[in-house]
Amino acid sequence: MRTTVRPVSAPGYSLVTLANGVRSVRSHAEAETFHPVIGPVAEAEALYVRQLRLRERIAAHPGEFVIWDVGLGAAANVLTVLRATHDLPCAVRLVSFDHTLEPLRFALQHGVELGYFGGYEPLVAELLAAGKAEQTIGSQRVSWQVHVGDFPTWLRNTEHAVPAPHAILFDAYSPAKNAAMWTLPLFTSLFRHLDPARACAMPTYSRATLLRVTWLLAGFYVGVGHATGEKDETTLAANTLALLDEPLDRKWLERARRSTSAEPLHEPKYRQAPLTAETWERLQAHPQFQ
Ligand SMILES: C[S@@+](CC[C@H](N)C(=O)[O-])C[C@H]1O[C@@H](n2cnc3c(N)ncnc32)[C@H](O)[C@@H]1O
Repeated sequence: MRTTVRPVSAPGYSLVTLANGVRSVRSHAEAETFHPVIGPVAEAEALYVRQLRLRERIAAHPGEFVIWDVGLGAAANVLTVLRATHDLPCAVRLVSFDHTLEPLRFALQHGVELGYFGGYEPLVAELLAAGKAEQTIGSQRVSWQVHVGDFPTWLRNTEHAVPAPHAILFDAYSPAKNAAMWTLPLFTSLFRHLDPARACAMPTYSRATLLRVTWLLAGFYVGVGHATGEKDETTLAANTLALLDEPLDRKWLERARRSTSAEPLHEPKYRQAPLTAETWERLQAHPQFQ
């Protein structure tokens, strides 16, 4: 009898089975597993779909709802968001960013094992082939484009014909591994790409003081984010207090002052440091704490 062995790895990526039995993608070059604890779909549902109240916001939105997806990777976040909202009569524009499409190609080849591609294979194949895709799936009109390249470099260029987002799925590797994606200049630039008249929220799996200070200094309001099953607390930033249930308060500010890892990364090099006097001044002047 012949046995067919399905390849489960490509040069840079492999499938891994998490402790709960769910499959995810691992990058060998970065030595990082995407969504490493509860798995891709459970994490995306908790961190983005529920926390951002995407069903309610998309249902109430009259025009195109714009989502920036920073760190497209294997597309678990965007596909989970689409599946969770596919029955709403709506138009969603996805703008994805990554410097490689390899994890997405790999994940599409292993869509059955990963379990979150069902029905979206043609959309993803179109995106991979053309860099953009448009389809109506369920009641939802989906327009998707991907920008392949270094995200910090893309942000520094202000001449973009990309609509400002209503939500940002920010999913880079951790600051220790991927410092270039967590600097204060990057988030200052990201904040400048938002439309002040368009409410926008951005969650992250991290609750690190360094990250929260960075987002505050970049111009965001910042709040405590939901637990995800993996983390007991995450972080949610927005350009309006109206999108935050639990804004960070002065008690948090005092704790940040005592933290040994609170000063933002000013350049793409990871290090830990307490707040400088200048950063402390700027934090106290933030409208959130007035
Ligand atoms: C944790 S993975 C994203 C997982 C993905 N969101 C998903 O749902 O499958 C992080 C992604 O960020 C991308 N990335 C890291 N540094 C980048 C950079 N400087 N510019 C653009 N993308 C970057 C990596 O290529 C990787 O695909």
